[in-house]
Amino acid sequence: MASETLTIIDNRTGKQYEIPVKNGAIKATDLFQIKVTEDDGIVSYDPGFMNTASCQSKITYVDGDRGMLRYRGYPIEQIAEKSSYLETAYLILYGELPNKSQLEDWTHNITFHSIIHENIKKLIDGFHHDAHPMGILLSTVGALSTFYPEAKKIFDVKSPYRHSLGLPYSYPDNDLSYPGNFLNMLFKMTELKYKPHPVLERALDVLFILHADHEQNCSTNAMRGVGSSQVDPYSAVAAAAAALYGPLHGGANEAVLRMLMEIGSKNNVPEFIKKVKGGEGRLMGFGHRVYKNYDPRAKIIKDVADQVFEVTGRNPLLDIALDLERIALSDDYFIKRKLYPNVDFYSGLIYQSMGLPMDMFPVLFAIPRTSGWIAQWEEMLTDPDQKLARPKQVYLGAQKRDYVPMEKRS
Ligand SMILES: CC(C)(COP(=O)(O)OP(=O)(O)OC[C@H]1O[C@@H](n2cnc3c(N)ncnc32)[C@H](O)[C@@H]1OP(=O)(O)O)[C@@H](O)C(=O)NCCC(=O)NCCS
Repeated sequence: MASETLTIIDNRTGKQYEIPVKNGAIKATDLFQIKVTEDDGIVSYDPGFMNTASCQSKITYVDGDRGMLRYRGYPIEQIAEKSSYLETAYLILYGELPNKSQLEDWTHNITFHSIIHENIKKLIDGFHHDAHPMGILLSTVGALSTFYPEAKKIFDVKSPYRHSLGLPYSYPDNDLSYPGNFLNMLFKMTELKYKPHPVLERALDVLFILHADHEQNCSTNAMRGVGSSQVDPYSAVAAAAAALYGPLHGGANEAVLRMLMEIGSKNNVPEFIKKVKGGEGRLMGFGHRVYKNYDPRAKIIKDVADQVFEVTGRNPLLDIALDLERIALSDDYFIKRKLYPNVDFYSGLIYQSMGLPMDMFPVLFAIPRTSGWIAQWEEMLTDPDQKLARPKQVYLGAQKRDYVPMEKRS
């Protein structure tokens, strides 16, 4: 008997099955031989993918118990300290750090391809002035597929902010870095040349690095699931952005700020914690499906926050956040459930201090995550094991019955 197997005894029939174990996983399709009916085999039932690997990946490694995150093997702490977002995006997409000329070419290519078709601006103009920027983003990215139909050949391989303020769109400035240019496109007014503050520019770069990828999270799963139909990448990114928009995922940074404002003062923190423990809402920015320890990104973000606040002044909501963290980390409810601050707990405070409105926060998550989505999408397309994503269900509904005419219904 091979040792890398699992022996399953079906106690209903007494039959014994030998299931191979590879890389710590069994194939769910191997369970099919264990019959439930003559036609149907057993399935594994796992809402929310609590213990189901949907793919094999070489991109990002997360060890939730140890609070560890690595991109292509490199610890996030080293990347956040030494790298830039564009270099990180290259690493995530191509698997290795670029050499000098590769990085120069990559940076040049991205910098000189930042102008979009003018008609996209008309599309953005069509949105109501107070439309949520995330809604604008995902619709616009989806629309890009119609502007670049060649993107359908998949095997060939900022404006919402200004719109909401009624400002003219600002064109990219190719002399600036990627995060510097992003700040330019948000904040440039009448000056001839926008000069980003170096501390804020670096802070944004680090925040982009920390958000670049995070293995099989909800939006990446949407990217892979939708991409598995072989749709163009713009449409798949629009689906991923839609998944990111929700408050349990990338919308959490916005939700944290709203929560801090609702709490209003340090004095109200104990009462708020009591309500959360009583089941009235959640402590946003706390808890994670994978991290059962301090999210390593939250630690780095806390340092970035200190640097940003030295330039912008201390965000008054910080004291409430620090108090929430202090109380929650010493409270049995949170300790028992292993609930620690996640990446979203402090990022919103930084964005707010940099002058960004709350509803832009998920957009600031989506922009850097696009490199991760694309890397995961490409890995999925080139993986011979992957197929159209189409989960099974456990059907519990009515058995066959005949249509009832209206006059006979009660
Ligand atoms: C991220 C999140 C969705 C993960 O959820 P999950 O893995 O499905 O965990 P569950 O929802 O099953 O929670 C497990 C337990 O912890 C509690 N819990 C989880 N997150 C909590 C939070 N933020 N505040 C209060 N209680 C929380 C649940 O109520 C549950 O308690 P119970 O066992 O008594 O029912 C969840 O922690 C959450 O909603 N956090 C707030 C939103 C957020 O910050 N999201 C950003 C993630 S990066």
